[in-house]
Amino acid sequence: MKTIGIIVNGATGRICSTQHLRGALVPIRDEGGLLVGDERVMPRLLLVGRDEDRLGKVARELGIDEWTTDLDAALADPSFEVFFDAAATSQRPQVLRKAIAAGKHIYTEKPVAPSVTEGLALLDLMRKAGIRHGCVEDKLFLPGFRKLAYLRDIGFFGRVISFRLEFGWWVFDGENTAAQRPSWNYRSTGGGGLTLDMYPHWRYLIEGILGPVERLVSANRTAMPRRIDESGQAYDVDVDDTASNILEMQSGATGSIQSSWATRVRRDDLVTFQVDGTHGSAVATLHRCHVQSLAETPKLPGFNANVDIKADYREGWGEVGDLEPYKNAYRMGWEAYLRHLSIGTPPAATFEDGIRDVQFAEACNLSAREKRWIEMEALG
Ligand SMILES: NC(=O)c1ccc[n+]([C@@H]2O[C@H](COP(=O)([O-])OP(=O)(O)OC[C@H]3O[C@@H](n4cnc5c(N)ncnc54)[C@H](O)[C@@H]3O)[C@@H](O)[C@H]2O)c1
Repeated sequence: MKTIGIIVNGATGRICSTQHLRGALVPIRDEGGLLVGDERVMPRLLLVGRDEDRLGKVARELGIDEWTTDLDAALADPSFEVFFDAAATSQRPQVLRKAIAAGKHIYTEKPVAPSVTEGLALLDLMRKAGIRHGCVEDKLFLPGFRKLAYLRDIGFFGRVISFRLEFGWWVFDGENTAAQRPSWNYRSTGGGGLTLDMYPHWRYLIEGILGPVERLVSANRTAMPRRIDESGQAYDVDVDDTASNILEMQSGATGSIQSSWATRVRRDDLVTFQVDGTHGSAVATLHRCHVQSLAETPKLPGFNANVDIKADYREGWGEVGDLEPYKNAYRMGWEAYLRHLSIGTPPAATFEDGIRDVQFAEACNLSAREKRWIEMEALG
């Protein structure tokens, strides 16, 4: 049995406590560690947060007896070799710099940095210090998108013509109903904004399935300019909460993204990703994936806008079955990172991949601001 000490920063946060701890690290611990080759790797967790009461509560609930509000003391402890950051986005560069200086290996939530420049500076420090790095890119592990990748691998689409990614739901403004997301998501000082928060995901999802993006053009807006925070105070939203984008891919395909925290859902899921190819189309949601091949494509009787032909266009689509036992998507990232630390196999995503994710969000924001196409150059 090999033990890997992991400092978990932001342990009381929503994503850390639910997904990284309850969904990934605690189950790995409870199963007696992760089997890597013929050795078991056991994560030893040290939780770090700001609020002692909340932190103690999370630690007790999860049966973890090591926790502290003193990040510097945690970083000074040589028995913990890994630093994982899932705290609020705005603090990330500062805490990662400290962790690098302390010689810890780094695994981090997205976005890995507020800008590409900052991300590259952190990467340079990590490389010089020989640090093993990884970042969270969880969505590709969701069943719906695994199925989409499988369709690509078996050549189901033929030549990909276009894609359409749609995301969104209604996040209440807090006036009469409490908001479902933390208020830092709606403040630039908190590292908020829909594009910076969600477009890192869209980058690896789109490029992971369809290859490199060549250029893009975007329009952003703030649909809900005033919100109420956790303490009942009204504040002005100074970041985008709605975005539209058009992409040209290196393959010649084109695509669009429509994202909003101010839309109501009448789609198959909170995220839908449609790919149209010469031989077939697919619509993936988080867990499912529907398909229509060329042979099953109905010959529609032209376009007569004045007659309701009462067609149900969802008929004639099949569904891809479950092809593997799907695990928690965050756990897949942790397993790959623990293997990376133990036997040197690649992590699911490196810090550099995370910078490409930030580059995409940055390009979308720049395009929206300057109202022009932006090239997605390869990172240096
Ligand atoms: N991979 C994903 O799907 C996914 C989903 C949601 C969030 N995230 C990322 O995870 C991170 C946390 O998001 P969340 O939704 O869990 O947020 P959250 O607000 O629920 O949690 C943030 C954590 O950071 C701490 N924190 C907040 N402000 C801080 C500050 N100023 N200084 C130090 N600590 C602070 C909080 O105490 C809390 O523990 C963000 O970087 C976000 O982008 C990733």
